[in-house]
Amino acid sequence: MTTPLNTLKYALPDEDTTVVLAQRLAELACGRAPGGPAAGGRIHLRGELGAGKTTLARALLRAGGVTGRIKSPSYALLESYNVSNLYFYHFDFYRLRDTHEWLDAGFDEVLGEHAIFLIEWPEQAGDRLPPPDLDIHLEYNGTGRAAHLTACSEKGQQWLTYLDPPRR
Ligand SMILES: Nc1ncnc2c1ncn2[C@@H]1O[C@H](COP(=O)(O)OP(=O)(O)OP(=O)(O)O)[C@@H](O)[C@H]1O
Ligand SMILES: [Mg+2]
Repeated sequence: MTTPLNTLKYALPDEDTTVVLAQRLAELACGRAPGGPAAGGRIHLRGELGAGKTTLARALLRAGGVTGRIKSPSYALLESYNVSNLYFYHFDFYRLRDTHEWLDAGFDEVLGEHAIFLIEWPEQAGDRLPPPDLDIHLEYNGTGRAAHLTACSEKGQQWLTYLDPPRR
């Protein structure tokens, strides 16, 4: 038996390489990867301000078929999209204030759906979030970035197996 793949590191020297990674993740999340798992999944995007979380999320949504403007959810906290039978929820919890805001916005309900979730600043939501399939930690690396991908579920492991070796 081979050991499941739990972590993968990507060098992202420029924005274009981030977009390529996002496109490959979109294939997986949308269930389009040959031999890959079914559509749906949760991705947490972590990293300091400007690390490239929204860039990755936006490119994934675009590759997933979202047309038109893709706004950063930094003020609304959530932007959602529907492409044929797929639902995408893009959260940014940087400005999340308290439990009331969470409940009023109906986030518990939304998070229970079968969909594709992209969540920036998940740490701001404390323990209210279900665990992700994949955790992506972006960090500055010279003028570019590096991405640390960690599988947190069997689906996440299947994704990483598909992504390895990194293609650029
Ligand atoms: N791999 C990369 N190499 C160099 N620059 C990048 C890379 N990925 C994204 N950037 C640039 O980093 C800047 C900030 O990106 P972005 O808004 O996606 O960050 P963020 O992590 O969402 O920040 P925030 O926490 O403020 O929402 C953008 O100008 C983007 O072009
Ligand atoms: Mg952002």
